[in-house]
Amino acid sequence: MPQPIEEFRSASEAETLAWAEKFAARLRAGDTVALSGNLGAGKTVLSRGISRGLGFAGDVHSPSYALIHEYTGARLPLFHMDLYRLAEGADWEEIGLDHYFQQGGICLVEWAERLPAGQSFSYRIELIIEGGDTRRIRVIAG
Ligand SMILES: Nc1ncnc2c1ncn2[C@@H]1O[C@H](COP(=O)(O)OP(=O)(O)OP(=O)(O)O)[C@@H](O)[C@H]1O
Ligand SMILES: [Mg+2]
Repeated sequence: MPQPIEEFRSASEAETLAWAEKFAARLRAGDTVALSGNLGAGKTVLSRGISRGLGFAGDVHSPSYALIHEYTGARLPLFHMDLYRLAEGADWEEIGLDHYFQQGGICLVEWAERLPAGQSFSYRIELIIEGGDTRRIRVIAG
């Protein structure tokens, strides 16, 4: 198991938002972030915090139906993806999402575990539900 470069125990949605907003300061043009964790772990909440940290004023919602939402108007474009509906091991290039990885923006990918194992990311963030509103957040460098 790779060692996390950062670990945080969040006690509430507000704490996850605040942590993610700060984490966004690390992100540079072209960075890609895989978000993994069970249903309701907080991947979308964390994405919302990152979007706030990048300077987006509007809200971020689950893109489950659209697969990808693109946000513009801040210092970098943000692509928020949710691959929950993809078959496991689906071909990344066939899906056509690799295009978004090359836009020089920030890509946040929920359910990145749907992608083939070899897919690389700048960061992997795992959210682990520890009961109630407690979440363990682990960041692994890609
Ligand atoms: N510490 C916490 N951090 C984040 N969310 C929390 C926390 N405690 C409770 N919650 C709640 O958990 C839910 C997280 O929902 P969210 O949509 O972010 O999950 P998700 O991981 O994106 O799920 P899905 O796989 O369905 O996309 C929200 O209802 C939120 O209020
Ligand atoms: Mg979600």
